[in-house]
Amino acid sequence: MIDRPGALMIYCCHRNTGDLALKLTEQEKSMLRGEMGEGTRIAMEIVVQLGELYGAERLLPISNAHIDAAAYTTVWEAGSDFIEFLADHGAKTAVPTTINPVSKDIENWKKLGISEGFAKKSRRLEEAYLRMGVIPTWTCAPYQAGNVPKFGEVVGWSESNAVNFVNSAIGARSERLPDLADVCCAIVGRVPEFGMYLEENRLGNILFSLQGFDDTWFRDSLDYALLGYFVGETAINRVPVVEGLPKTAGVDDVKAFSAAAASGGAVCRFHLIGITPGGDTPAMAFGKKTAHETVIVRPQHLLETRKKLSTAAGTAADMVLLGCPHASCEELDRTAELIRGKKVSKHVDLWIMTGRVQYRLAAERGAIQILEEAGAVILRDTCLMEMDEGTGRWAGKTVVTNSGKAAQYAPAINGVRIIMATLRECVAAAVSGIFTGEHCHGDQ
Ligand code: F3S
Repeated sequence: MIDRPGALMIYCCHRNTGDLALKLTEQEKSMLRGEMGEGTRIAMEIVVQLGELYGAERLLPISNAHIDAAAYTTVWEAGSDFIEFLADHGAKTAVPTTINPVSKDIENWKKLGISEGFAKKSRRLEEAYLRMGVIPTWTCAPYQAGNVPKFGEVVGWSESNAVNFVNSAIGARSERLPDLADVCCAIVGRVPEFGMYLEENRLGNILFSLQGFDDTWFRDSLDYALLGYFVGETAINRVPVVEGLPKTAGVDDVKAFSAAAASGGAVCRFHLIGITPGGDTPAMAFGKKTAHETVIVRPQHLLETRKKLSTAAGTAADMVLLGCPHASCEELDRTAELIRGKKVSKHVDLWIMTGRVQYRLAAERGAIQILEEAGAVILRDTCLMEMDEGTGRWAGKTVVTNSGKAAQYAPAINGVRIIMATLRECVAAAVSGIFTGEHCHGDQ
C-alpha cells in the first residue's frame, strides 16, 4: 500500500466532464467518474490530460499495448508507488499488454551480483504489473515475443525501438507514449488521437538516398545500425524515407535500424523502400507531401558514424554486449555458430540480452548450450542499461557491441566506452580479448 501519495494528490479530485474539449463516449465518461474503479478513474484522468495536452479531439480504442516503464531504474520509487497504487485500486489492463525488460534477470539475478535490496525493489514493480494482468514477456522486442499487430491496427506502445518498429516494419499505428502514461492507456484501452495516430503525420518528409555502396555492405546488422543512427541524427523527429537498401534486409536488420534511428534522433516512423509495408516507392511513402530535404548517403557517412560511436581509446575489450534490442533466436543461433568450439577469454564478459520467449526457442535449438559452454552469459528479462543500481561497476570499461542504441546510452548510463563491431568481430573480441577490426567497413 502506498505510504507517500505525494504526486498522486493531483489526481484525487474528480473532474467535471462537461469542462473537456476532448469528446468522450459514455463509457469513457463513466471511467472518468470512477464507476469502473478508482484505479481506472486515475488512469483515465491521465489519458484525458495527455489528450488535452496534445489537442486531441477524441480517444481511440486500442487492440493491444506494450509498456516501457517496467524497470525500477526507469521509474524509481515514485513510479513504483504509482504502479502499485493503480494495482491496489483494482486497475487491470483492458487489452493484451506486453512489457519491457525489468532491472534484473528474474531467475539469475544473484549470479549477476545484484543485491537483495535492489532485487526486492524490482520484484515489487514486477508483482504490481502482474496483478494488473500484463503478459510477462519482459522484452523490448515484443514483436518477437508474440505481439504482432495487423497492418493499420491502432495500438498503444512505448519503448522507442518497438514503437518505431511497429509503425514502420509492421505498419500498425502507435505514438511514442510516455512512460507511466503507457500503463494508463493499457488500463483504459484507449489512446488520445494525436501524432502518429493521424494519417498526415505518417507520410515521409525527408529522403535518404544511398549511393556508392557495393555488395559487401548490409550483410551484417551493424551496417543497418550505423545507417539508422545516421538517419536518426539527421532526420531528428521527421519521417525518413530510405531508398537504395537491398531487399534482402531481414527482421533483425530492420530491428537494428529501428533502434538506432530512435536513439540517434527521435524517429518513430520510417519507410525503407521495397522493405517496409506501405512504401513500395518514394511516391507512396511521401503521399501528397514532398521531401523537405534530400540527403545522399555514401559509405563515408557510415564509416564516420562508426568512428564517432566508437569512443574507446584502445582495442582491449572488457565486455562484449549483444542483444540490444533483445536478441532473436536467429541471432542467438548465429552467435552460437560463430563461437562453437571456442572459449570466451577470461578477461572478457560476453553478455547477450534476450527475452524469455526467444531464449526458450534458442534453447530448444541447442544455441544456448553452445553459448553457455563457451562462457557467454545470457541475460533474460533484463538489460544492462537497466541493471546498474548506481554502483558504477562498469565505469571506464570498454564494451564491444553491434548496437547503435547501446552505443548511444551505455556510455551515459554505465560510464563505459564503446567499440562498434560486426557480430563476427564481436565474437572474435570475446574470444581473444582484443578487437581486431579496423574501425572501418570490416569483412562479414
Ligand atoms: Fe532493450 Fe535495453 Fe537495448 S531495453 S533496446 S536492450 S537499451
